[in-house]
Amino acid sequence: MSKIALVTGASSGIGRAIAIRLAKDGYRILAHYNSNKAGASETLSEVQKFSPDSMILQFDILVAEQVEKTVKDFEIDVLVNNAGLHLDGMAILMSNDSFEKVVRTNLFGPFYLIKSCAKKMLLRRSGCIINISSLAGQTGNPGQVNYAASKAGLIGMTKTLAMELGPRGIRVNAVAPGLIETEMIHTIPNLENLKKQIPLGRFGLPEEVAGVVSFLCSADASFVTGHTLSVNGGMFPS
Ligand SMILES: NC(=O)c1ccc[n+]([C@@H]2O[C@H](COP(=O)([O-])OP(=O)(O)OC[C@H]3O[C@@H](n4cnc5c(N)ncnc54)[C@H](OP(=O)(O)O)[C@@H]3O)[C@@H](O)[C@H]2O)c1
Repeated sequence: MSKIALVTGASSGIGRAIAIRLAKDGYRILAHYNSNKAGASETLSEVQKFSPDSMILQFDILVAEQVEKTVKDFEIDVLVNNAGLHLDGMAILMSNDSFEKVVRTNLFGPFYLIKSCAKKMLLRRSGCIINISSLAGQTGNPGQVNYAASKAGLIGMTKTLAMELGPRGIRVNAVAPGLIETEMIHTIPNLENLKKQIPLGRFGLPEEVAGVVSFLCSADASFVTGHTLSVNGGMFPS
């Protein structure tokens, strides 16, 4: 029977590319979405070319009970916490609501998912969790105090969980994309100037993030845990 990979935020962008890549790798995909059912259905039709038993799942990652109720029916082998949100603005002008919503989505959401999925992983003594962080979480980024704090928090969460869950055979890693060609980056001001700061001279592609996720889920990464792998074209060498 195929292993199961749950990819959150698979209705567009990086999440869609990850879902398709893991389907090619042989996983049965649970392609999660929140509001964009049409996008999730498009993802599913691509995914099913490689993994016909895959399906879409809807829930709001901010509602812990919804997360728990939905995932309890599945034996999830791989969890990719990809769903995320940014609401940008300079710190002193940012509403408390914006700060809270971004931190809750990018940090609490993955926490709820990990708690729900890791219970069965612990019993099976195997599993793989990938958290999609961001370059902003590694370096900070003016105008993104909420987003950078949440994505830095996700790196701390990744390291801690690698220590807590490693003894039971569960690996936990993070991926930190730089500027990747998705809808998300088109709201960033000064985009062309930013491109000039990327040593490889271009934005990344969602498939290039998906390839790294695929590696981290694979047997080739069987001794890698607690790591944050940068996918940023060399923008800030770490
Ligand atoms: N693009 C970049 O350059 C870049 C760089 C660094 C890191 N990242 C990270 O990579 C991940 C994917 O980014 P992307 O560019 O592909 O973004 P995107 O196209 O905007 O996708 C975001 C996804 O998150 C889901 N989502 C948002 N809030 C949610 C909630 N409350 N509950 C459930 N799902 C929710 C959305 O679902 P619905 O649309 O279905 O509501 C959507 O599928 C994010 O974590 C982002 O922070 C992106």
